[in-house]
Amino acid sequence: MRKPIIAGNWKMNMTPSQAKELIGELKPLVQDAKCDVVICPPYVDLALAAELIKGSNIRLGSQNIHWAEKGAFTGEVSANMLKELGVEFAIIGHSERRQYFGETDETVNARAKAAIAAGITPIICVGESLEQREGGKTEELVKAQVEKGLEGIAAEDVAKLVIAYEPIWAIGTGKTATDEQANETIGVIRNTVAALFGTDTAAALRIQYGGSMNPKNVKGLMAMPEIDGSLIGGASLKAVDFSQVVNYDA
Ligand code: 13P
Repeated sequence: MRKPIIAGNWKMNMTPSQAKELIGELKPLVQDAKCDVVICPPYVDLALAAELIKGSNIRLGSQNIHWAEKGAFTGEVSANMLKELGVEFAIIGHSERRQYFGETDETVNARAKAAIAAGITPIICVGESLEQREGGKTEELVKAQVEKGLEGIAAEDVAKLVIAYEPIWAIGTGKTATDEQANETIGVIRNTVAALFGTDTAAALRIQYGGSMNPKNVKGLMAMPEIDGSLIGGASLKAVDFSQVVNYDA
């Protein structure tokens, strides 16, 4: 069976001193979690976070990764730099990066490959806008994002990575997808992976839901058979809220 994975995407929040406080509060609250617990702080907090989580069950992720090993890419951070800090996961292709920073399915694919090559697990984000959902385009869009995002990756690597289904209209809006909507689209993602890489790979791959998840709605979403975890934005910035999400089955 797939072990659930719940990750906090801090986005552009938390200075190092704020990160220290949050992690300090979080550690005892999540120590008995049955799922994988990941935090994804901004780059500047990663080294400190890596020290602070030592000996705990909290694991570290970054919010992006560059596709090149090194070189003249001012402002970017490479996979081996993150790996050396103890980063185990990298969020790739978040809708905010697609929307504001020109991220495409091609760059998502390149970043995912660089992460895998360095031994970092990509958390590849996909999801439709409200306009696309209302226009009946969700399935087609999400399928294309999965196909292009995973192009050229070996099935054995696909089996180990994480996909996050985050409908854009549910992010930061307080408007969560219903349990059924999230389960249905995640089913589409799993079927797409099955068609490309085989049913064993699709059965092993973990797929999260993200978008206004909180302590109140986590139980219903996590009870759905296709949903293997969550990517949490706003609720990951408060230790109590994030711990209640992580301990949804306590
Ligand atoms: P919210 O939980 O704030 O809606 O954000 C979701 C998200 O974008 C996580 O990556």
